[in-house]
Amino acid sequence: MPSLVPPDPPLTDGVLVLGMVGDDDVDAVTEACQDPSIPRWTTVPQPYTRADAEAFVSEMAIDWREGNAAAFAFRRPGEDRLDGLISVSLVGQGIGVMGYWTAPWARGQGLATRALVLVGDWAFRDLGLARLDLATLPGNAGSERVAHKAGYRGGRLVEAAVNQRGVRRAAHIWTLHAPSHP
Ligand SMILES: CC(C)(COP(=O)(O)OP(=O)(O)OC[C@H]1O[C@@H](n2cnc3c(N)ncnc32)[C@H](O)[C@@H]1OP(=O)(O)O)[C@@H](O)C(=O)NCCC(=O)NCCS
Repeated sequence: MPSLVPPDPPLTDGVLVLGMVGDDDVDAVTEACQDPSIPRWTTVPQPYTRADAEAFVSEMAIDWREGNAAAFAFRRPGEDRLDGLISVSLVGQGIGVMGYWTAPWARGQGLATRALVLVGDWAFRDLGLARLDLATLPGNAGSERVAHKAGYRGGRLVEAAVNQRGVRRAAHIWTLHAPSHP
């Protein structure tokens, strides 16, 4: 697939700015992923080491280059430390799959919702995607709320929808259609 081109200027809504994930983010990613709720509700390794963060940063650069996925670090303008990560994986047929977490030090301020809206708008507008999906494991009320606030609907429970560290798990699937594909 063709390379993905990072948005220029960077995506921002004035509260958050989204940039590429880089080597400078390794420490913050490692620190954030010590919070048990991130491995609990996502597919990141557990335990999470600095080597995992380094591998993640390298893989995300390859994904941009090979057109597989676009991952962003989100942070407050002017701040060095990231407040979270969000990615959209291109799975074919105009469909993207979103994944995200907010670092424990930045939760409860609407940041995940803002990031999800910003990346969703970009994916529809610049990547021409028709549909975005996201999967929440049963019980993840926080992420369900984020998805709902960003306009995602559905929530059907699909068996074996997520591969979490080698275990196939049921998940709720939430969907947002492009404005031109109601
Ligand atoms: C879920 C998560 C992404 C929320 O991030 P956040 O930046 O704090 O979310 P927001 O501030 O945008 O919250 C949006 C809404 O969700 C609600 N919410 C957030 N976390 C919640 C929780 N744990 N339980 C219930 N509601 C929650 C907020 O109150 C807010 O609703 P409101 O505006 O009606 O008050 C974050 O807690 C996280 O990273 N969790 C671990 C990893 C994870 O679950 N990732 C998603 C995998 S699908």
